[in-house]
Amino acid sequence: MSSSTLRSRTNLPTDPQHASPTTPSTNSANTLSKAKAPTLPAEDDTTPTRLTPLDILRVLAGLLLLSSTLSYFITGTSLTWNYRPAFTRPARIKAWLRGPLHLTDAQLSLYNGTDPNLPILLAVNGSIYDVSAAPHYYGPGGMYSFFAGRDATRAFVTGCFEEDLNGDLRGVEEMFVSEELLVGEREGGYSREEKRERKLRREREWRVARRRVEDTVRGWEALFDGGKGGRYFWVGRVEGGGREWVGGLGGC
Ligand code: HEM
Repeated sequence: MSSSTLRSRTNLPTDPQHASPTTPSTNSANTLSKAKAPTLPAEDDTTPTRLTPLDILRVLAGLLLLSSTLSYFITGTSLTWNYRPAFTRPARIKAWLRGPLHLTDAQLSLYNGTDPNLPILLAVNGSIYDVSAAPHYYGPGGMYSFFAGRDATRAFVTGCFEEDLNGDLRGVEEMFVSEELLVGEREGGYSREEKRERKLRREREWRVARRRVEDTVRGWEALFDGGKGGRYFWVGRVEGGGREWVGGLGGC
């Protein structure tokens, strides 16, 4: 058998430089395995990446940091969007330990911010709230100091800060009812049909007005009962009645 026949049968290359990849020499084997290495572990490429508990902690810490930074720049002071849990507020803990207050209007008036040893209190719809956290609104000279030390629910609805500083809501709905429905008969009177139509409108408007008053009062209660980052809080109820009806057809 000639040497060329033998080469072709055994596939042995004579020149290592032209060696087939399937029959590498020792040197070229090293070179080739090195060159091919990155493409070999194909199954590794498709293995899904698993999040470790440490990764999750890192993501959460990043989100917390982002939220705190945004909160600080937006609120100007707080890292927690002005939220402070009750247990970090001494005044709240003290009130909780003391239990609910039951004050008459006269007793409530002492808590108007003029005595620095007393908290500033105000009432809405018979509920008393501690608003000491905002002396710039409710303390002496504050823009809403007239609300302190009293239940001025009516003024919270009407916005009449002189005449309506009391808690009597009787007839306050009238301010939301069309004036032409409140006045008596026009000169010349109304036909039967007109009277019927006016009566229906008045009933409808009255219903809507009552809901508006209720929503307004509930809105203020929500503000003082933990709204605005929970800086105000409920402390008790106003005792006794004796409130007088004040106010007319709405408007100051
Ligand atoms: C029914 C009428 C209104 C009532 C009962 C009312 C009452 C109040 C109260 C109780 C606060 C303090 C809120 C808090 O403690 O966080 C307040 C804040 C304020 N009110 Fe009025 N208000 C009335 C109308 C108005 C009007 C018409 C204006 C503007 C002309 C106004 C301007 C302000 C301003 C600028 C603040 C401060 C807001 C803040 O910094 O949070 N209010 N209002």
